[in-house]
Amino acid sequence: MNKKGFIFDLDGVIVDTAKYHFLAWKKLANDLGIDFTEHQNEQLKGVSRVKSLEKILDWGGISLSDEAFQYQMNKKNTDYLSCIETMKENEILVDVPKVLTFLKKEQQPIALGSASKNARKILKKVALYESFDSIVDGTNVSKAKPDPEVFLIAAKDLDMEPNECIVFEDSIAGVQAANKADMISIGIGDQEVLNEANFVFKDFSEVSIEFLKQLINKQ
Ligand code: BG6
Ligand code: MG
Repeated sequence: MNKKGFIFDLDGVIVDTAKYHFLAWKKLANDLGIDFTEHQNEQLKGVSRVKSLEKILDWGGISLSDEAFQYQMNKKNTDYLSCIETMKENEILVDVPKVLTFLKKEQQPIALGSASKNARKILKKVALYESFDSIVDGTNVSKAKPDPEVFLIAAKDLDMEPNECIVFEDSIAGVQAANKADMISIGIGDQEVLNEANFVFKDFSEVSIEFLKQLINKQ
């Protein structure tokens, strides 16, 4: 039987949390007197909490003491956590269960590859924690996407070679990380934004079972 390693990003791929990250960063930026646009937000998707704050401060031309930096990081996370506190299964993105169920039935190895330190908490909230053979998140990596580290660790965990892995990503940084890891990158979102991906779909309703079978059987 053919096997591929299927690696999923979390925020904006499995669950609809990218909007909460956006709201929390926008509030933080605006409170510091910094403008924050959707275009800038695309550059933060997939990027670690520390790197995201560094970028925002850079855009605003602001520098903070270590203490103030830490304070803002904690504040952002507290705001974000208050958004996800009441999260339930209805925030799983469209047709994600269809894809996970099919891959499980086909006995394909499945991993999570996320930059978030809140990943495990969120997976438990939406009852998907048990759906992954491996979970690699922000607590397991030292280098942020676009570095491929997170996906390379996931491939190793699944006992697959990088070129036998397929990554689903909604972020530019994540697509670049998958490409650097020599994996097939599948963008979930806007074709124009994710144009470096090998394939792009608006969401999983466009990802057919036929397409998944082709990925599994690709030599
Ligand atoms: C990524 C998100 O999945 O995780 C980013 O796309 C976020 O927006 C990053 O900054 C880190 O998440 P957290 O939950 O550890 O702050
Ligand atoms: Mg994402």
